[in-house]
Amino acid sequence: MDLAWGDERTKQFVTNVGLITSNGPYGNNIMACEWTHHVSYEPGLIVVCIRPTDATHDNIAKTKEFGISLCASDQNLISSISGGNSGKSVDKIKALKELGFKFFKGKKTNVLLVEGAAVNAECKLVKEITLGDHTTFVGEVVEAYSVKGKEPLVYHGQRYWKLGPNIPKPPQNELDRISRVIERYKK
Ligand SMILES: Cc1cc2nc3c(=O)[nH]c(=O)nc-3n(C[C@H](O)[C@H](O)[C@H](O)COP(=O)(O)O)c2cc1C
Repeated sequence: MDLAWGDERTKQFVTNVGLITSNGPYGNNIMACEWTHHVSYEPGLIVVCIRPTDATHDNIAKTKEFGISLCASDQNLISSISGGNSGKSVDKIKALKELGFKFFKGKKTNVLLVEGAAVNAECKLVKEITLGDHTTFVGEVVEAYSVKGKEPLVYHGQRYWKLGPNIPKPPQNELDRISRVIERYKK
């Protein structure tokens, strides 16, 4: 079966928004990508799932590298602009610069990164997998930067959110009860 964009069940997922930067046949470009996931520690691998019709897709396929600027909670606007226009018809980088957003050059790749993101990373492509209607690009992190005091933007139900309050741990007596039950079911 399909699980469509906008379906009530699809909307139950919580994601973050990666701003995927690339520099290929469509020039310097940026898109919003909620399917940005950190999937390995050693080495650091990040996957991004991108529609084959996007300019970013061709840019990454051709150059074998990309940047990820994980949106901070105050960067919803750059996410909407990057996700609402295609680099096939708009020079989003120039437009964003004119709107006041700032970029810096990657150290180990030929891509731009967004200032003020929660995390910035430069990736070299290690694998490209067609999965359903998107291509999963697996990138090995070759450089990573963090910005202190920035929390990631949350995306859920087609809207942007801030991280909510932390859920406190259960009281010790409840933790003890859980341990006793787990003990009884050990294999
Ligand atoms: C918040 C948000 C999240 C998005 N997530 C994805 C995603 O995970 N994968 C994808 O292919 N497109 C996603 N999009 C849509 C692309 O950003 C959009 O198609 C964009 O215009 C592609 O730009 P490009 O053609 O310049 O590469 C998202 C858009 C928004 C606003």
